[in-house]
Amino acid sequence: MDFLEFQNKVSNKINVDLSSYKRNRVERRINNLMKKHNLSDYRSCLEKLNTSHDFQEEFLEHMTINTSEFYRNPKNYEYLQDKLFPELFANKSKIKIWSAASSNGCEAYTLAIILNELGIDPSKYQIKATDIDPAILQEARAGKYKENSLKKVPEKVLNKYFTKKDDYYQLDRKIMSRVQFGRLDLLKDRYDTNIDLILCRNVFIYFTKEIKDQLTKKLSNSLVNGGILFLGNTEYLLKPEEFNLNKIYNSFYRRK
Ligand SMILES: C[S@@+](CC[C@H](N)C(=O)[O-])C[C@H]1O[C@@H](n2cnc3c(N)ncnc32)[C@H](O)[C@@H]1O
Repeated sequence: MDFLEFQNKVSNKINVDLSSYKRNRVERRINNLMKKHNLSDYRSCLEKLNTSHDFQEEFLEHMTINTSEFYRNPKNYEYLQDKLFPELFANKSKIKIWSAASSNGCEAYTLAIILNELGIDPSKYQIKATDIDPAILQEARAGKYKENSLKKVPEKVLNKYFTKKDDYYQLDRKIMSRVQFGRLDLLKDRYDTNIDLILCRNVFIYFTKEIKDQLTKKLSNSLVNGGILFLGNTEYLLKPEEFNLNKIYNSFYRRK
């Protein structure tokens, strides 16, 4: 069985279109996993996927890199806090926020903490956070974090919103209740509309250029006019105007 046939069969099995991701990376990660499990060819890997639910879960987790942290790229969160949030809330009674590819929730919860610090009433916003990986969404809902996701959290914030347990920190329940998590595949599923702020960070790097462009178009169409798209630090758009967007600061784009 050649790689493309295998990729096709696996995509159906795990319900993730692997052909939309950069091929080198997909191939490398599959080969690593096969080595780990002593699987000598694609056929035996497929067999294991068909017979072991645990292996299916491990496979999906291995393909989707879940690394995240609170206040990742802090300058961007400062900009949100000092400039964009005051502006968004001044113009509207309720704003809709979506953390697409939210991983373990660090990003969405960072927003909830910042909004709480700004003293904005939770009835004035909605934060939805979605990811393709059900296991990481379970982690997000538990709100338990190891130190490596908390390195950029200001000490005052850490003391106020996290409780140290044995080998993890538990996030404050009030903050957790401000984010609704759900599964959404950016490639296949329909997106919500009329969103004021979309965070789609550190996931485009895994997709082919063609797919990245398609998704940027879909995300832009989900924004209200004047809505904001917040990308990862290395994921700038060369020609934002092609997506009806204007660059406003670092990784922030505004829909025209
Ligand atoms: C590196 S994490 C980024 C987390 C967070 N946005 C951040 O920047 O810290 C990438 C996330 O994208 C998710 N992902 C990968 N493919 C996806 C898809 N097709 N639809 C939705 N999420 C996807 C992965 O499961 C993973 O949790």
